[in-house]
Amino acid sequence: MQKYILAIDQGTTSTRAILFDKDSNMIAVAQKELENYYPQPGWVEQNANDIWASTVGVMIEAVAKAGIREEQIASIGITNQRETSVVWDKQSGQPISFAIVWQSRQSDAYCVQLKQEGKEAWIREKTGLLLDPYFSASKLRFLLDHVEGAQQRAENGELLFGTMDSWLLWKLTKGKCHMTDVSNASRTMLMNLHTLDYDDELLKLWNIPRCMLPEIRDTSEVYGMCSGLFDVDIPIASLVGDQQAALFGQTCFAAGNVKNTYGTGCFLLMNTKEHIIHSQNGLLTSVGWRIGKKTDYVLEGSVFVAGAAIQWLRDGLQILKKSSESEERALAVDDSAGVYVVPSFTGLGAPYWKPKVKGAMFGLTRGTKQEHIIRATLEALAYQTNDVLNAMKEDSGLEIKRLQVDGGASLNNYLLQFQSDITQASVIRSTISETTALGAAYLAGLAVGYWKDQEEICSHFQASHEFVPNMEASQREELLTGWKRAIHAVMQF
Ligand code: G3P
Repeated sequence: MQKYILAIDQGTTSTRAILFDKDSNMIAVAQKELENYYPQPGWVEQNANDIWASTVGVMIEAVAKAGIREEQIASIGITNQRETSVVWDKQSGQPISFAIVWQSRQSDAYCVQLKQEGKEAWIREKTGLLLDPYFSASKLRFLLDHVEGAQQRAENGELLFGTMDSWLLWKLTKGKCHMTDVSNASRTMLMNLHTLDYDDELLKLWNIPRCMLPEIRDTSEVYGMCSGLFDVDIPIASLVGDQQAALFGQTCFAAGNVKNTYGTGCFLLMNTKEHIIHSQNGLLTSVGWRIGKKTDYVLEGSVFVAGAAIQWLRDGLQILKKSSESEERALAVDDSAGVYVVPSFTGLGAPYWKPKVKGAMFGLTRGTKQEHIIRATLEALAYQTNDVLNAMKEDSGLEIKRLQVDGGASLNNYLLQFQSDITQASVIRSTISETTALGAAYLAGLAVGYWKDQEEICSHFQASHEFVPNMEASQREELLTGWKRAIHAVMQF
């Protein structure tokens, strides 16, 4: 009987389920959009019950679309938007409030206070993270402080906390498994990178009762059975943060392998194997995955605005009709004519970390056309990626000879060629676009012997296109000098 792996990709804007076969082909896809709520400026929330309902919906739909029998599903993998936090009642299974989404800044005040108390370096040493409301700890503190009686109920063991992996696992196993994996736990700011366990000093600092936290497990193992949803019980065999899943799906298994996802923002991850590298250049250190006794760590850099800058050209400036037009329009001019766009609309992320900076455009003349601005915006994605790659090179001491890419904007050939020219690395686009779901599927398949090992998985990787550097050194230098001046100017404005 032919078997398949069912991957759930629970993202910020939608939930998807994808069935893969043994050759990594996608057999069926189902997707449901999700609502985000913005109760106050800078706050982003979601309804965890909607996330659960969307998950059930897409799982059933994907299986129906594929026309397979339920016993043909060898295992289920879950990958998820990281850091987004929910607290629920253990008895009723009801969330005590909306989930706080990773982008939300509502718990910033806790981070500011701890920074003033000089705690940042200490927290960073333990967790690899910067003291920022992006991570779960301050979100959980916020929930416990703002929902009446929550702290006491948590201490009594009545409430449970989870990121979306834990929430979905708990629901799918009918409350039997309250677990997370090391990749997700490493983004809570409560786990110690060295021990891979919750850190008592951090729990004390944030005043979080350990009994409400999910047990930290491997990234690839059978946690429990999905029961009640289908006629048969199916093992749930991977939990993994979505960026780490994409790194796995891109088969970046060796030290120095890097992937970049060009989504709304850019997420760059470098596999550093067993080495915990503390960045001197504004990058984060997290866990990639733990399989058996072996842990792979990663260095991570995020650029806040990437694909969102193309959306701004389309919806804000209205100089593009469709995002997919950006390549053709950029190629309608010979170069960007000295124009630089710095799309730091929501501040600058890695390696600068300047949250208050605004965006800017430089080098405008009477001859500047829409096409120059479009081209300069695409180039900005490549420059920002290059800045993060340079930080990674410096922190790791490793050469970056290839960059594997995915995400919407990775379909833009002009962007990828420019990326290769500026970075002087091969930029490789895989034939499989759904690397995040595929990573979760690989991890779930490995746990049940569907695939034998990482070597077998590696043999599935196929490049659909490889972009190689093809720019004079002098031109590259000149362009990079202009970009540096633009970046410094926005930081001073
Ligand atoms: O850290 C946040 C990241 O995991 C969100 O991913 O794909 O839902 O935007 P995505």
